[in-house]
Amino acid sequence: MRADRHGGAGAPATPAPAWWRRAVVYQVYIRSFADASGDGIGDIAGIQSRLAYLRDLGVDALWVNPWYPSPMVDGGYDVADYRAIDPLFGALDDARRLIEEAHAHGLRVLGDIVPNHTSSEHAWFREALASAPGSAARDRYVFRDGRGPRGEEAPNNWPSVFGGRAWTRAASPHRHPAQWYLHLFDPGQPDLNWENAEVRAEFESIVRFWLDLGLDGFRIDVAHGLAKDAALPDLAAGADPWTPADDHPFWGQDGTHDVYRAWRRIAEASGSDRVFIGEIGPMGPDGQARLARYLRPDELHQAFNFDFLRSPWDALKLRSVIDATLAPLVEVGAPATWVLSNHDVVRHVTRYGRAYSGLEIWEPWVERQATELALGTRRARAAILLMLALPGAAYVYQGEELGLWEVEDLPEELLQDPTWERSGHEYRGRDGCRVPIPWSGTAPPFGFGKTGTVPWLPQPAEWGRVAVEIQAGAAGSMLELYRAALRLRRGHPGLAGEELRWLPSPAGTLLFERAAGLRCAVNLSEGPWELPPATTVILASDPPADGLLAPDAAAWYVRQPASSAVRHTLREERS
Ligand code: NOJ
Repeated sequence: MRADRHGGAGAPATPAPAWWRRAVVYQVYIRSFADASGDGIGDIAGIQSRLAYLRDLGVDALWVNPWYPSPMVDGGYDVADYRAIDPLFGALDDARRLIEEAHAHGLRVLGDIVPNHTSSEHAWFREALASAPGSAARDRYVFRDGRGPRGEEAPNNWPSVFGGRAWTRAASPHRHPAQWYLHLFDPGQPDLNWENAEVRAEFESIVRFWLDLGLDGFRIDVAHGLAKDAALPDLAAGADPWTPADDHPFWGQDGTHDVYRAWRRIAEASGSDRVFIGEIGPMGPDGQARLARYLRPDELHQAFNFDFLRSPWDALKLRSVIDATLAPLVEVGAPATWVLSNHDVVRHVTRYGRAYSGLEIWEPWVERQATELALGTRRARAAILLMLALPGAAYVYQGEELGLWEVEDLPEELLQDPTWERSGHEYRGRDGCRVPIPWSGTAPPFGFGKTGTVPWLPQPAEWGRVAVEIQAGAAGSMLELYRAALRLRRGHPGLAGEELRWLPSPAGTLLFERAAGLRCAVNLSEGPWELPPATTVILASDPPADGLLAPDAAAWYVRQPASSAVRHTLREERS
């Protein structure tokens, strides 16, 4: 039986809320977490060797980015076989052992399923290429004749997320004019046809396969993709290609909801608390309401909240994102999620160190600006305390607990993100947030792999001073801040429920109350409170004995009544 920190023997008669409603999930970008094999690429054995670290950090689950056999044109989001493990990462038995051992540590394990597209090396796509237009093999994908007299123009004007158009003309082994196939991402990622019953059945079987192996659920890649408008109409002139809208032909189509209803039934039938988290969005101006439609009780359990991640460091904007997140979820009964970083965006220490600290779009191919890392780090400290004080689930991207910043000077010849080539070298892409993380030692690979290992992306020399080994036990370090905040979140009754009540507070600040009198106060910049700028204070009447966080480091956790300075500055708001 699992050594479960979430219930089990001695649990109260009233069932506790499902674990995922307030879980903290740690994102393991497998290629860059820990390399046990010595080839410079992280692997499953590496993750296994660091499970005690994750348990001690205080997270509830890990989500592992795709580990399937893949040509790796998009970091594994081009899957060639959904029921196996890429030899780079290990074998199926390693995955099974990882799951078992994680469970023994009280950690759940979520996989990453990629249903919008396969790899062009998937057996289905090879078969499709070798088959005639109109064949059953081609119907699993989105093949179409081209426009123009000889079919030499793409079937419509859809763009690829990675740059260029979303169509590639397939060489034809037949006498017919060659057809085009759809790929919303790289040409190595052909889109599946979700109208096809075989596609639906296959993915239901894949989901069952991994749940049977022991996974606790899935993060679903491009979960608002999948279904397309069957007529494949052109995008209207001037339409925003990236933001779902009612008439958007490839994002947010209604047909996708049925897919998730079927998956939810599989989860429920598996007899335990399995969970599906959609990577959905960003969803546009009325986005949170649109998002909630995926979270109806018979669909997905959660969806990432990209609006929070994209928000600039601004009190009004953050508050409006928090409100817009929570309100529509009440109707569907789903918990909110909060996230600051992932493997697709500029690390938030860097974003917060910029004059404009938001993201206009969720990908990192935004203009580069000067970065003040000290400011970004300070804001990041305040932001994580805010995030972990909010009701719902939270997602932590590997390395953010070390305060890692974006690596912006990777040599061009090492860049691997397909965006780099597809944008004609205009956008460097996402490699800068995917650099292997530092564990120990004074020189690369900083314990990421054995001494002498050359990591697949070079680590900055300065990462020696932020390695896990240096920060562990060091008062005021980012790592100790995360550990303390996660302990507080796990242990304090004020953070257990889902309610949040705003209290009046001056411009440039946020102040809200949770249960049991717990309050969270955030001073975003130079403000009226006598607190340093970019400071979050958690006030609680009954903190655990070890609850005081470094008072010089943008974060306090104080007894109530608070220390005199804080009491003085917050007096008005409390009355
Ligand atoms: C979203 C994933 O997070 C990203 O890394 C990937 O490139 C695209 N989906 C395509 O699968």
